[in-house]
Amino acid sequence: MSIALYPGTFDPVTNGHLDVLSRACRLFDEVIVAVSAENSPKQTAFDLETRVALVRENLESHANAKVESFGGLLVDYARKKSASVLVRGLRAVSDFEYEFQMAQMNRHLDSELETIFLMPNEKYFYTSSQLIKQVHLYGDRETNLVPRNVLDALRSLSLKNKTSG
Ligand code: PNS
Repeated sequence: MSIALYPGTFDPVTNGHLDVLSRACRLFDEVIVAVSAENSPKQTAFDLETRVALVRENLESHANAKVESFGGLLVDYARKKSASVLVRGLRAVSDFEYEFQMAQMNRHLDSELETIFLMPNEKYFYTSSQLIKQVHLYGDRETNLVPRNVLDALRSLSLKNKTSG
């Protein structure tokens, strides 16, 4: 049985992530979306529970996918889950340096774990959680780049930001 991990911060999950997930689900028997807990260098807008829930609510059409959170080193979590592959999305060339470094480090830590890169549909080449959050912090646009539950969550987040302080 081929098990792949699709790790990330998913702050929040976007249609680009879900597009990559669909592709991974066609290639592997099981795909575990692994949402990083405290072990990502990024400061998150959504707490861990919310990031996991926002992914989970979009898994209906992915029968062989599930979502979990993980802490510690990714390679250790992969071994615990008997996963032999890490899936990462690759959009523009600008992603490459960061992805290459991570893949090399993970290979250094566990030479049996393979990283594969999947390209999302080109309509998501410039979709990033970071830019989506900016759009919703400063405005309220339906971009069609995030699923409905994420749009709602972004709206209530920016509402909270605007009313606090
Ligand atoms: O979506 P992101 O933020 O690019 O995902 C980064 C993530 C969570 C995959 C990465 O930070 C990670 O693997 N964190 C776990 C800690 C770890 O194993 N670090 C070494 C990997 S080089």
